[in-house]
Amino acid sequence: MTKILVTGGAGYIGSHTVVELVNHGYEPVIVDNFSNSSPSVLDGIAKITGKRPAIYEGDCNDAAFMARVFASERPAGAIHFAAYKAVGESVAKPLMYYENNIGSLLVLLKTMLAFECHLLVFSSSCTVYGTPDKLPVTEASPMQEAESPYGYTKQVSERIIADTCRAHPGLAAVALRYFNPIGAHPSAHIGELPLGVPNNLVPFVTQTAAGIRPELVVFGNDYNTPDGTNIRDYIHVVDLAVAHVKTLQYLQKEDVSYDVINVGTGRGHSVLEVVHTFEQVSGRSLPHRIGPRRPGDVEQVYAAVDKARTTLGWQARYSLEDALRDAWRWQQSLE
Ligand code: UFG
Repeated sequence: MTKILVTGGAGYIGSHTVVELVNHGYEPVIVDNFSNSSPSVLDGIAKITGKRPAIYEGDCNDAAFMARVFASERPAGAIHFAAYKAVGESVAKPLMYYENNIGSLLVLLKTMLAFECHLLVFSSSCTVYGTPDKLPVTEASPMQEAESPYGYTKQVSERIIADTCRAHPGLAAVALRYFNPIGAHPSAHIGELPLGVPNNLVPFVTQTAAGIRPELVVFGNDYNTPDGTNIRDYIHVVDLAVAHVKTLQYLQKEDVSYDVINVGTGRGHSVLEVVHTFEQVSGRSLPHRIGPRRPGDVEQVYAAVDKARTTLGWQARYSLEDALRDAWRWQQSLE
């Protein structure tokens, strides 16, 4: 079985990807420092797959630790999820973000080269596009100046990986530019576990419906969109997880050096559509009011997904309804 190192494998997208790796016959090996995840995620993974993957607790910034993991596991490839991801926090703590997100990537790449690990899938974000000139946004769209240190770490990381692949022809990598991942595993054994008050829309919605938060504030309804609220491309986390497996298969099969691929559904939904769809699938009314715009929000963004379809043979299978139903089922399982 092909061994794949999964940094941040106990996290939200990481844990769903670990499940899909097992489902597709790979052997995932998790590295996680549990800074934003819980070891209990491993129980959920075991319930779904019947397997308990190897896990190393430690920091990807720790070169000696990473060398020990690579020496004992000798993975054929790596998927690098481990990173900080809160946009607002990155503005307040830029050095923490640069040190963690860039530092861990440098350690990982150096360790991969030292141990002849040749395949890399990297978690990037549609944030690299900023406010796109044209919709849907294709991979050829230019990057815009990053709005936050978080966004800049994704832009710089992509560049670091591209340069490293160019200098080391044996290394092959794909940066997946995620749109907005939502939902949970349909079994409700794993899902998103935000610490404290959620920054993101869907966990805030499910916590509000569960009575943990009094109401959702919709950040602005005066945008130039049909109902005035922001439009995003919400992708079910299981679809996103499968995209990682397809990317690994692509890297193993084709002669790739470095590439970037959007992962979204190709469809945009407004904040109010999310609210109303959630009310339909949960059968609960969601207390919400319109508030001011959130600084830094892009008016609308959704993906062109042709490249994922033609290069990876992947496309999203789950709908917004499915994703919200699964997110709600997961929220209820926590009560
Ligand atoms: N929103 C609300 N109320 C809330 C939370 C969010 O109205 O309480 C709205 C936002 O204004 C936005 C939409 O819901 O229009 C989605 O917001 P999220 O915070 O869930 O997601 P973003 O699109 O802002 O952020 C996501 C990722 C980031 C990434 C960014 C790039 O979470 O990691 O996309 O655009 F940087």
